[in-house]
Amino acid sequence: MQLLSIIYIISSVTFILGLKMLSNPATARKGNLIAAGGMSIAIIGTIFLYKDDTGNNLHNYGWIFGGIVIGGIAGTLAAKKVKMTAMPEMVSLFNGTGGACAALISIVEFDHIYKANTPSESTWFSDVVPLGHFLPIAAGAIIGSISFAGSIIAWGKLSGNVKDHSFKGQHIFNIILLLLAITSVAYAYDANMNFANIPFYITVLLALVYGVLFVLPIGGADMPVVISLLNSFTGVAAACGGFLYDNKVMLTGGILVGAAGTLLTILMCKAMNRSLLNVLVGSFGGSVKGEQQKTTGNYKEISINDAAITMSYSHKVIIVPGYGLAVAQAQHACHELEKILEDKGVEVKYAIHPVAGRMPGHMNVLLAEADVSYDKLLEMEQANEEFKSTDVVLILGANDVVNPAAKNDPASPIYGMPILEVEEAKLVIVNKRSMKPGYAGIENQLFFQPKTSMLFGDAKGVLQQLIAEVKTL
Ligand code: TAP
Repeated sequence: MQLLSIIYIISSVTFILGLKMLSNPATARKGNLIAAGGMSIAIIGTIFLYKDDTGNNLHNYGWIFGGIVIGGIAGTLAAKKVKMTAMPEMVSLFNGTGGACAALISIVEFDHIYKANTPSESTWFSDVVPLGHFLPIAAGAIIGSISFAGSIIAWGKLSGNVKDHSFKGQHIFNIILLLLAITSVAYAYDANMNFANIPFYITVLLALVYGVLFVLPIGGADMPVVISLLNSFTGVAAACGGFLYDNKVMLTGGILVGAAGTLLTILMCKAMNRSLLNVLVGSFGGSVKGEQQKTTGNYKEISINDAAITMSYSHKVIIVPGYGLAVAQAQHACHELEKILEDKGVEVKYAIHPVAGRMPGHMNVLLAEADVSYDKLLEMEQANEEFKSTDVVLILGANDVVNPAAKNDPASPIYGMPILEVEEAKLVIVNKRSMKPGYAGIENQLFFQPKTSMLFGDAKGVLQQLIAEVKTL
């Protein structure tokens, strides 16, 4: 067996191992390094050991290493500089570049075939290229372009630079766009060689427009599902490149990303109570249908002192962490409060909503960083069972994931999303800095309910004051 094939097998094994280790916070960092090591030897092996059909090695080393140096520096700087809270934006951007690479591979391969066979009097594209070779080119071009354009829009939305946008009948329009893209690429395959490039590039353009239009209307709370779906698209598009070049490691890597992304998308759809079909045509969440219920009434505040006393004399406190806890980097203070409350005999647990924060597993990672024991974390269904027997729910920088509008306001963009039903507890204390809305941009009726008290301030500062106060009791 060739050395390069052995390297590819080793790399594929590291990807699988790395993915497995990513499923546990204790091994995730190591798993990431192992998979990155596997990817490095696959790249180096390909550069120096690959031989084409005529037995020639790769050339163009200047371009290859130029690209590696520029990409390596940009990636390292971006990864070092990025704040934990801006991670999903970066993931979207990187995912978009992956999609663009996959689409470019298809475009370059198409161009090779086209240039090698034109001008031609009577050649048809399908005479020159077997269908089995054309299909990965077509799929890579369409899926990669959708992933690129969609990820760039998702990046803009997550960073707050692109707003939700939709028009009447947009999902039908999107389906038509997708069908047109497929028809035009099929036409390219069946066209005279001299003109096959026109329908092919129209296909790429249609896929790019589809990518933009399918992400544009999706708003607020539903973005995580879309990001995960785009991630799986990039994996599938990369796998098409693997087919094209008969490159086993590209195929394995692409399939793993595609499969993991698809599973995550399905899990998130379930968690958000959304249908996968609606995600695909970009017709869910975001744009508000009808008049949303107005939140009326007054909210009441609680002092640090009262909050500390109430929690210290409770039997059971459940903490609901959200995006604000990550912004404030208050996870260590949160763990400290948990410990001193437990020293006073209070049972303390955490309720984790699947899309709390800004990336899948954000709260789990955040709390693991502070050494919060995993058996204290309750999944949404368990937590909803336990709220009934809870004295105090302390919400730290969470908003959308506890918004009752998801249950009782059909006009709300988050309607249908399962939430943490904190109002089942005896008392709810909400810590945030103001009455401003969360990610979905909507008001929260919970803040105005009689059993809710607001505790304003930065989560870290508030937790430090609470700790100091509880210690004196
Ligand atoms: P959000 O609804 O975004 O609410 C976070 C709240 O934290 C804000 O209302 C904000 O209010 C408060 N906050 C910000 N900084 C704070 C600080 N330093 N101290 C205290 N509070 C602070 O968060 P959530 O409940 O975790 O929900 C997550 C949302 O993001 C969902 O809509 C979800 O769909 C979406 N999303 C999730 C993901 C994933 S995969 N998890 C990815 C993208 C989007 P103030 O400004 O008043 O302080």
